[in-house]
Amino acid sequence: MKHRAQWASRLGFILAAAGSAVGLGSIWKFPYVAAKNGGGVFLLLYIALSLTLGFVLMIAEILMGTLSRSSPVGAYREMGGRGWTWAGYMGVICGFLILSFYSVVGGWTIAYFVKTIDGHIIIPNSTQLELIFTTFVSSPVAPIVYHAIFIAFTALVVIAGVQKGIEQVSKYLMSSLLLLMFILIGRCITLDGAFDGVATFLQLDFEKVTMSSLLDAMGLAFFSLSIGMGAMMTYGSYVPRETSIVRSAISVISLTVGISLLAGIMVFSAIFAFGFNPGQGPGLTFVTMPAIFSQMQGGQFFGVLFFLLLFFAALTSAVSLLEVVVYFFMDEYHLPRPLITIIMTILMFILGCAASLSFGPWKSYTFFGKTIFDCLDYVTSNIMMPVGCLATSLVVGYAAFNRIKIYLVGINRFSILMVCFKWVCRIIAPVMIVVVLIQNL
Ligand code: PHE
Repeated sequence: MKHRAQWASRLGFILAAAGSAVGLGSIWKFPYVAAKNGGGVFLLLYIALSLTLGFVLMIAEILMGTLSRSSPVGAYREMGGRGWTWAGYMGVICGFLILSFYSVVGGWTIAYFVKTIDGHIIIPNSTQLELIFTTFVSSPVAPIVYHAIFIAFTALVVIAGVQKGIEQVSKYLMSSLLLLMFILIGRCITLDGAFDGVATFLQLDFEKVTMSSLLDAMGLAFFSLSIGMGAMMTYGSYVPRETSIVRSAISVISLTVGISLLAGIMVFSAIFAFGFNPGQGPGLTFVTMPAIFSQMQGGQFFGVLFFLLLFFAALTSAVSLLEVVVYFFMDEYHLPRPLITIIMTILMFILGCAASLSFGPWKSYTFFGKTIFDCLDYVTSNIMMPVGCLATSLVVGYAAFNRIKIYLVGINRFSILMVCFKWVCRIIAPVMIVVVLIQNL
């Protein structure tokens, strides 16, 4: 009998899974990618993809975990056969690689939280803010110290285990995140001119939509739902048998899509109220938002809340990435949780240092024209995660379909869902993902 951790409650599982999904992807990446792609239509695409492909793949991943009760490697082995274990290993490696650069940005959120408290970045001049940002990220020491702090927090939560660590922390942080989000939205949409921002964000501008917006929307949907690398499989393996996976997945997807939308509305209303350019790109969060806070009444207070929110969101996602790697070693090699967490954290910290230095002293080390940070991001989000989603849909659609069918019929009796599920996994998802992959290469 294997040692099996379980979630203490269904709510605990939903909040942990939503904690994994809601992260820098929803709050930092989503608003600027949506802006780049013309707002409204991109938003519709993102929502449509999350509710269809994302929904099916999330159920598929969670089910693979729940039915096999194993880490991604064991789950693929059991559900798909030995020929599919490579997909599990790829997920574990993907988790390792994502966390190494994700925790660098996680460190930035702590740094900006501190900088907002000491008032250092509450200045209205965006050129100067840009300079502060580039000087900070390119310096060889400070971002690495914050990266270490961020990854240490992540490790502490994972060492504490599934119920006492991940579940408890997700409950507190996700509830606080929702609360902070509502306070900030309330502040942002009551600014003069905010409604123009919201209107622009929601405007349907079909001309800006291209094939590449579709690709962006799909990549972002996978990344922001945490599917394609085994995080949902790992969390799914701790789900007690009697929990309804379909209902839980509906809650997780609604929370994630809802929070991304709210983040978009919050950022856009603030940007338009102060006449900034939303097409700023990745600097939107770290450059434009502080400039906005500096012009807002009570801005320092709201700025502190904003970076705290970003930190909470990033931490619960980072925890799920580390858990994939740690649980793989526990499940396959029976290594103790604390030991393997410490070893992996140190290795990820080292790789993360390289990613962080690639903004400064190591900027010139490039592969295919990309810095180390960009390479890690590109390889994981644009190659490994789509391939992982492809593997999941094929395993669930063909090899494991009968097992999954029995489970879904037995628990949910949703027969229409079953038909959709089958054809999305067998044909629609694989075809769409292959098209995206080919376009990306
Ligand atoms: N979904 C997280 C985010 O949006 C990132 C993530 C990807 C987390 C894959 C876990 C697994 O920030």
